[in-house]
Amino acid sequence: MSIQKVGVVGCGLMGSGIAQVCAAAGYETTVSEVDEKLVQAGIEKIGAQLTRSVEKGKLSEAQRQTILGKLHGTTRLADLGGCDLVIEAATENLEAKKKIFAELDSRLPKHGILASNTSSLTIVALAAATQRPDRVVGLHFFNPVPVMKLVEVVRTILTSDAAFATSRDFAASLGKEVVEAKDTTGFVVNRLLVPYMLDAIRCYEQGVASKEDLDRGMKLGCGYPMGPFELLDFVGLDTTLYIAEIMFDEFREPRFAPPSLLRRMVTAGLLGRKSGRGFYDYR
Ligand code: 3HC
Repeated sequence: MSIQKVGVVGCGLMGSGIAQVCAAAGYETTVSEVDEKLVQAGIEKIGAQLTRSVEKGKLSEAQRQTILGKLHGTTRLADLGGCDLVIEAATENLEAKKKIFAELDSRLPKHGILASNTSSLTIVALAAATQRPDRVVGLHFFNPVPVMKLVEVVRTILTSDAAFATSRDFAASLGKEVVEAKDTTGFVVNRLLVPYMLDAIRCYEQGVASKEDLDRGMKLGCGYPMGPFELLDFVGLDTTLYIAEIMFDEFREPRFAPPSLLRRMVTAGLLGRKSGRGFYDYR
């Protein structure tokens, strides 16, 4: 099956990045948000990102215009009804996502595939909210989406071989590398990354080293682009706590248990870059 039209639900950090790479790969892309202001803000963010690429000489002005011409914004999920594939990148809330999936299921053509960019929720729970569970997959992108090469393509126990193959080919057509993963919480990357970041917080709590040295250690010793505390601030402490709680709930293993410092920082509103302060101060 060939994908021509793509829908993206949510135009926040992840949704806007996903919409950008879809449009840049030549797909007619419609992105939906809950209100007009968010639609505008998301599309402006993509425009600004593309402008930076033009300034750097990585894109021509004509290419920028072509990409923007492929992007359409809407506040109505019904406007995604003509899409062959919809990628949901809404807030990480299972009930809200189930509603979105049920509505999209009633709007999409029979062959349409529904995908979620969820980082921790179970894809089959979303599949079960539809009448097309064989055509529901996970497409998990990484932040910043235009830069990170990976997409995890996730199959549930109900995903058909055909829908999985189409989804994998689609992710590759965006210029991404694919890893195939089973529908277990955290898939591949977060399964390993989240306990690593939680362990870094425990090291810091136990006084193993300063957060600066823990970051320097992992950057210089392992060649990671960011140390664990820089990465925690980048991903968002609230997001990390949310994922850790779901993973702990599923696996009941101490390595997934959120350390108390993480909880306290989230309670205090120290969420990382997005709030101006996390482990580091960005104000
Ligand atoms: N959006 C788009 N492009 C961005 C960007 C953003 N937010 N931030 C940086 N870039 C681009 C820059 O424009 C630059 O592009 P260029 O090479 O074409 O000039 C390139 O990325 C490199 O940026 P910089 O030179 O400014 O800075 P760095 O070299 O320090 O790279 C980084 C920044 C790419 C963010 C790098 O630090 C990095 O790879 N960090 C790790 C990111 C990571 O681990 N992401 C995964 C998080 S986990 C996740 O998403 C899963 C979820 O479920 C939690």
